Order: sequence, then C-alpha cells, then structure tokens
Amino acid sequence: MPTAPTYPTIRTEIAGASVAKLASEFGTPTFVYDAAVIARRMADLAAFDVVRYAVKACSNLAVLDRIRRLGGLVDTVSAFEIRRAMAAGYAARGTPPPIVFTADVFDAASLDLVVREGVHVNCGSPDMIDQYGRLASGRAITLRINPGFGHGHSRKTNTGGDQSKHGIWHAELGACLARAKKHGLDVTGLHMHIGSGADMDHLAQVCQAMERAALEAGPGIHSVSAGGGLPIPYQSGESYVDLAAYHALWDATRKRLEQSFGHAVRLEVEPGRYLVAECGYLVTEIRAVKRQGDRLFYLVDAGFNNLARPILYGAYHPMSIVPGDGNANRPEHDVIVGGPLCESGDVFTQEEGGYVVPRRLPEAAVGELLVIECAGAYGAAMGSNYNSKPMAAEVLLLDGRARLVRRRQTFEELIQAESIPG
Ligand code: LLP
Repeated sequence: MPTAPTYPTIRTEIAGASVAKLASEFGTPTFVYDAAVIARRMADLAAFDVVRYAVKACSNLAVLDRIRRLGGLVDTVSAFEIRRAMAAGYAARGTPPPIVFTADVFDAASLDLVVREGVHVNCGSPDMIDQYGRLASGRAITLRINPGFGHGHSRKTNTGGDQSKHGIWHAELGACLARAKKHGLDVTGLHMHIGSGADMDHLAQVCQAMERAALEAGPGIHSVSAGGGLPIPYQSGESYVDLAAYHALWDATRKRLEQSFGHAVRLEVEPGRYLVAECGYLVTEIRAVKRQGDRLFYLVDAGFNNLARPILYGAYHPMSIVPGDGNANRPEHDVIVGGPLCESGDVFTQEEGGYVVPRRLPEAAVGELLVIECAGAYGAAMGSNYNSKPMAAEVLLLDGRARLVRRRQTFEELIQAESIPG
C-alpha cells in the first residue's frame, strides 16, 4: 500500500520536468500526466486476475495505450469509448474480453457497434438483455447487479440502492437469468459497482452481496467483477485503501465460489480514479489577483470547463504555486481560487452545496503558475466548451520526455460542426 502523501503548496517540477518550461512550451491550461504514476498504480493491483480500466476517467488515447501496454483491459460506456479503445490498440473480442461495454441502456450506435464487433456486453437493465438478445443470440453476457446499497464520495457518485438508476436490481436476478436464457444468451459473469470514492466497509459488503448473487446464478458464472470505486487521498494525510486486505476479501469470495462451482472464477477489478487521478496535473496561469472585501482571489485561466469536480461535487484538489522568482519562502494567505467563466460557481475551492472555502496558499502574482493536482481522473474527460473555451492541451511525461498527446482545440475545430442556414 503506498504511504499517505503530503501535497506541497510550492512546486517547481512534475516528475523532473520544469513546470515553467511545460507551460511555456505547451501553454496553459494544460493537463500534464506522469506515465510512471499510472505504471505504479497498475502494479499495486497486480494481484487481481484482470485490471479493467474505466475509460471514462481519462480517455486520452495515449493514456489508454499506456494502460494496454501495462496489461490492463478496459471498461467502456459508449460507442465512441469503444472506438477509442480500439484506436488505442485494443481488440474488440478475446478471452477475457479486452473491451467490456457496461451500461444501463444501449443507444442505437452502441448496440449496433457491440453486435457488429462482438464486444462483450455487461447489461445493467432487463431491457438491455432483450435488445441485445434479439440481435446476438448465442453470445455470452455478464450482468451488472445493483446489490440494494451503494456508497460514494458524493450522493452523485453513489451507484447502488433504490435511488440509483444503475444495474439490475438484486431481486430481479432470477428473472433476468430466465430472460437471458430465453434469448439464448449465456450469462457467464456478474459485476457490481456501488459507487465512486467508496470506503472499505462499503466495498467489503459488496463481496457478500456478490457471493449471494453468484450462488443464486450457479455454476454458469466464470467471472466476478468487484467494480471500481477505489478512493485516492486528495488531501495531505488521507491514506489509501488497504489493497491487500481488499484483494484478500475478494479472493476468499472467489475461492468459495470456485469450490462450490468446481471450476475457476476470474476476479476482475475496474478502477478509473485509482489508476489515473494522481498522475494528472492541471497547469494554469494566474491572470488576476484581487480583493473582494476581506477575501483574496486568485483567478486562473482554467475553469470548470476543464475541471468540473469542485463545482459538481465540492471536490477538494491539492493546489500549488510555481514561484516565478524561485523564492519558495513566501508568506501564505487564505485564497479563493476561481476560473475565467462567466458563472459564480466557477471556483475550485468550494464545498458541496457551493460554499466557497478559502485555501492556505503562498503569495502569488499575476503571470505565475498555479497547479491543480490529482486532476487526471474526471478532469479532461469531463471537459466542455462552455463559454466557447477550447478543450485544454494534454501532455504525457514518458521516459523523461514531455509529449503533446492532445493539442489545444482551435477555434476552427470548435465551430466546425455548426452551420448558419442560408
Ligand atoms: N465501473 C463503472 C461501471 C463505473 O460506473 C465507474 C465510474 C467506474 C467503474 C470507475 O469508478 P472509479 O474507480 O473511477 O471511482 N465524475 C465522478 C466519478 C463518476 C464515476 C462514474 N462511474 C468524479 O469525478 O468523482
């Protein structure tokens, strides 16, 4: 288990690369990903038979390529996520399936693609079973089960229980197995994902729920997936989940199932955040420093169009200042950090509910850089063009070199799908 991190409030480099140089070469705002961190996090999970990366966390092709080279498989949620995975070198089919499509609904494009390419489907609703079964009789599927409880870092990331739209309700399992059978679909595995940023107690409860469900489904089950949701420490002093204990719980569950079924049961885990949150740094430039009454504001050139987690969930991200003069001994102030968008919620230092919370940060001036850290998961991937801001550049630090893996969007790209009726 990695040791609990301490996040600095002054930073001059990211994995040996000068932040100032990165900013002058690639501009700001730019996401910088440290490939070595992804490799370490993949290695942490090596005890699981399959580490299946949730592409939604950061879907940049270069990141998918890193995960693939490290032996990770992928979980996808849309037709274009499947196509991204294929563009990054994943085969559509294989054993275990390189790409899984997990969803609660098919749109026309995703149904067409999984049928055509033979991508494995993990059904999260009875209707998905019917819609797939009508077109793909004879194939294997897995079922995503909602165990009746869930947990997340925010209500909005809890994906279990009766308030959640996700998964097949646990009491419907029998009916769904019958439905699959009727269509000639073979249910070969079960999956549960109770939420994002869950804690160990809740994650552990999933094992028991999975065991019950798998025993009900019987020996046709050859794989179980623990889902994702592994938290990471976003604040100094917070620690990691005990992964050895987590794996041991799941391994014991899997072994009991193997005993009962008389054959091997593959154990999968499906993290997004755990693999990519800590590798990512959002490098911004301070463009205004101003006082509003007693409050001090640093306004940077990134907004919630780049990183929506604070405005959506009141999420906390570590921040650091890059001293332009190299002076690391600066007085600290309570600062509110905001972005350029024309919306008052465009503040990176807020709690859930929109309450602004100042952050203790070193004194800084206009033109200096501010780095928003642990921004690799659900950062660029949730980016938008709000206020007609271009999607940020993305840079991968790999083997001591900084490589541009997504260039900043241009104005022409921003408007290219639009037209004015003649
Ligand atoms: N598997 C499934 C079926 C999921 O729905 C998700 C996340 C994951 C795996 C990966 O969860 P993770 O290991 O990253 O917690 N935008 C939110 C998180 C939403 C997660 C949605 N599903 C955030 O920024 O915290």
